[in-house]
Amino acid sequence: MSINELKIPIEKELKAFEFMFKQSMKTRLPLLNTILSYIIKQKGKQIRPLFVMYAAKLFGDINIRTYRGASLVELLHTASLVHDDVVDDSFQRRGFWSINALWKNKISVLVGDYLLSQGLLLAVEHRDFDMLEILSTAVKDMSEGELQQLERSRFMNVTEDAYFHIIKQKTASLFACCCEIGAASTTLDTELQKHMRNFGEQVGLAFQIRDDLFDFGDNKTGKPSGIDIKGRKLTLPIIHAFSKASNRDVQKIKKLIRSEGNNEQKIKDIVSFITAHGGMSYSRGKMEEFRDRAFEILESIPAEKHHKQSLQKLVNFVIERTQ
Ligand code: IPE
Ligand code: IPE
Ligand code: MG
Ligand code: MG
Repeated sequence: MSINELKIPIEKELKAFEFMFKQSMKTRLPLLNTILSYIIKQKGKQIRPLFVMYAAKLFGDINIRTYRGASLVELLHTASLVHDDVVDDSFQRRGFWSINALWKNKISVLVGDYLLSQGLLLAVEHRDFDMLEILSTAVKDMSEGELQQLERSRFMNVTEDAYFHIIKQKTASLFACCCEIGAASTTLDTELQKHMRNFGEQVGLAFQIRDDLFDFGDNKTGKPSGIDIKGRKLTLPIIHAFSKASNRDVQKIKKLIRSEGNNEQKIKDIVSFITAHGGMSYSRGKMEEFRDRAFEILESIPAEKHHKQSLQKLVNFVIERTQ
């Protein structure tokens, strides 16, 4: 199922969210305005707002707080992408030049901060302190995750446990936040909110494994491949292959990753190494395990079946997506 099909049942609600999101991206500063308009033009999949809305629907009608929740998370997500492209030195995002490619790092750091603060302010202005707390936790976790990833990439010493810990913080924390915020907009039952948080976390883990797989092949994400290797970022397919290969081969591949030179050929060699050790299929298997855990949690939640089915479809999109 395509993302557009998933959007059809809540088209009207998504419009309302988009209006609010765009309002937060308006400013009188000319340079900032130019950059924010550029960002709005290349909109992403909006998968996080979809999780907020479908999570909300489980427990009641989508309302103004749901829209705010969706706007908060998309603002934070956008901020994190602008910062992430600086950290990863990546010049392409959503099929266009990244902000750092066009306006350089200094401006990107400040624009990312601006977007983040707009998100936090939106919550403060409307006294949504419950959402503010959930969101701030995600901000903290995401920064910690990205920092740990950087630290590990210096020595290329990532274990599978360390990898899961990192992606839980840098990516799954925001998905957890989306589902918790969505639930918080329609139910006061904190037990249910926490269940939804756990559900979102499992989805987020699967989401990042899918993303990490994209880096090793042709993809339609509008992002360059091979960026992780270039940044010496070891992800699950390689980590698994390292655990299976001989020490000599591991050292050889590490040397190859460190070497300068033709990245395309490098990626090809690394992909053959990973495939020879089952790294791709192992990663897909792990992704499916997280999907199954997400489904189990969803199953246990008392809510109408057809609303749960919408969330299931969304999760299936996360792991089957090509963009
Ligand atoms: C990219 O997220 C960042 C990761 C956590 C891998 P998305 O793939 O949801 O990005 P957009 O918003 O659709 O561009
Ligand atoms: C996710 O990791 C980054 C964030 C949590 C913002 P990646 O570095 O893999 O994300 P992409 O591939 O650049 O979107
Ligand atoms: Mg990146
Ligand atoms: Mg990536």
